[in-house]
Amino acid sequence: MTNYLTPFKFHNGVELRNRYVMAPMTTYSANPDDTASNEELAYYEERSYGVGAVITACTYVIANGKGFPGQFAGHTDDYMDSLRSVAQAIHKGGAKAILQIYHGGRQSPRELVPNGDVVSASDTIAADGGKARALTVEEIQEIVKAFGETTRRAIEAGYDGVEIHGANTYLLQQFFSGFTNKRTDEYGGTLEKRMRFPLEVVAEVNRVKQQYADDSFIVGYRFSPEEPEEDGITLDDTVQLVDRLAKEPLDYLHISQMDFRSIARRYEGEKENRIKIIKRVIDGRIPLIGVGSIYSKKDALEAMETGAELLALGRELLIEPHWVEKIAAGEEVITEMDMTRENVIPSPLMRMMQSNPGWVPGVK
Ligand SMILES: Cc1cc2nc3c(=O)[nH]c(=O)nc-3n(C[C@H](O)[C@H](O)[C@H](O)COP(=O)(O)O)c2cc1C
Repeated sequence: MTNYLTPFKFHNGVELRNRYVMAPMTTYSANPDDTASNEELAYYEERSYGVGAVITACTYVIANGKGFPGQFAGHTDDYMDSLRSVAQAIHKGGAKAILQIYHGGRQSPRELVPNGDVVSASDTIAADGGKARALTVEEIQEIVKAFGETTRRAIEAGYDGVEIHGANTYLLQQFFSGFTNKRTDEYGGTLEKRMRFPLEVVAEVNRVKQQYADDSFIVGYRFSPEEPEEDGITLDDTVQLVDRLAKEPLDYLHISQMDFRSIARRYEGEKENRIKIIKRVIDGRIPLIGVGSIYSKKDALEAMETGAELLALGRELLIEPHWVEKIAAGEEVITEMDMTRENVIPSPLMRMMQSNPGWVPGVK
């Protein structure tokens, strides 16, 4: 079996020092002007010494895409210094820095977007129970361009790549999902048309990469495999999306789920482990990052059996920032937060975890 502590080479030749990456995690901890705070920079640096790459918290590409209070911004050139500071913090420990780029769509809190104008694929329900408005075709094109512009900023700020956030019910997923996309134009209706906006974002990000960077700039895509709603995304839909994405010049795909052991819920084929199903569809064309509830070395060994080339750790790296180094040294790791320890976690993130008991093991 592959040793996940050994280097991994992408098809573009870029090498990660090992096969573990830090999962993107929103920290709610930017300064009031949406620049990255010192607490956030310290948090990234602390976790940059072991993993092969750190995928940052998502940053929004346009003002009406802001989805969290305290989210560091990436939507104008005014934020270049801030973006650069995050990349530099991650590089201190030798990890590759990948900026996650996104638009919150209907999930954006109304008070965070200009004029309270929450947008989505169709007229639909917003996170506050109010209305989200369908984007016009011109606005869709503007957002596609904005993904490209934030990619350019990532290149100029020294990142090693970007991850297009097509998961977790945000705008790209809202377009792909039949639950939120009721459009009847070229961006909705059939599964093919629901893929159109995400694929245009992929194409634009790659166009900008060609213009401002070279092959070594990593472009990944994150997707959520299933939605619970009747009209929502099934694993059969996702299989088609993944098959389509695997034909694009992408460096990796990244599944988003809370447990790597999750079994397919709505799928025509045998209901087995989702990562295994996705791996079969990809059929070696592009590497896949697996994720979800990897805490102990035993969990990691079990997750490797899914065949995912790379494994992302989120919550465990909050608990044990030096997890990879400790595993490599054969040391014990803790799998519940030790609240008596200096954890180097931004205080807004710690407060958020404390107000959501059970979210991260051991947080009191
Ligand atoms: C505090 C927190 C913030 C998160 N923020 C993001 C995010 O910005 N982007 C994203 O794609 N996923 C986000 N996630 C999901 C994680 O990337 C990951 O998929 C999930 O936590 C499961 O992995 P884990 O069990 O190793 O934590 C977040 C998760 C947590 C716990």
